[in-house]
Amino acid sequence: MSMTQDEMKRLAAKAALDYLPDGGVIGVGTGSTVNHFIDLLAPLKGRFEGAVSSSEASTERLKAIGMQVIDLNAAGELEVYVDGADESNKHFHLIKGGGGALTREKIIAGASKKFVCIADETKLVDVLGKFPLPVEVIPMARSFVARELTKLGGTPVWRENFVTDNGNLILDVQNLEIMEPVKLEDRINQIPGVVTVGIFGHRPADVLILGTPNGPRILE
Ligand code: 5RP
Repeated sequence: MSMTQDEMKRLAAKAALDYLPDGGVIGVGTGSTVNHFIDLLAPLKGRFEGAVSSSEASTERLKAIGMQVIDLNAAGELEVYVDGADESNKHFHLIKGGGGALTREKIIAGASKKFVCIADETKLVDVLGKFPLPVEVIPMARSFVARELTKLGGTPVWRENFVTDNGNLILDVQNLEIMEPVKLEDRINQIPGVVTVGIFGHRPADVLILGTPNGPRILE
């Protein structure tokens, strides 16, 4: 059966509904896969007190389905966070930030007991890095951070005409073969001016749900 990438994303989003708690506050990520998840959440929304959102875009969509959006400071630890990814390896280390929401995503993932990652099957890779690694930087540090990233072997490209929800910039680092995600995450985080690197190594996903033409494939 042939299936589009978008249909596979929707399958993964649907399977994530089984991981939701009976009530309370849930964490909701950002991106086209999560947009499917928010659509599918609409009929269930009465069950939850609300959601913590990882971006202004998801906040808007959550409000549109009538879900209350709650500040993370008022929510405490979350049972479940559902979000997409740009790449995952078999250890559930991720590259995220294709949509530029990586900082808030990393905060919410860190504040959640279970991170359910939803994606189509093409996102599972042997080695992270084919997808350009997003790095959020303070605007005045852009050129300096770019030079430092070049020293690490990457080719940073400024995502022009894009400002994050936090008022910062994104460098997309090409040509990396990320053999040791946790080490590289630490290394890039130490460059002054870096807000967040899009490697989720210290806080990987707990469950990876991949949409495939044969149905959802669940890795735990
Ligand atoms: C946004 C993200 C997204 O999860 C990632 O880009 C995947 O997006 P999509 O579901 O559209 O493929 O990290 O910052």
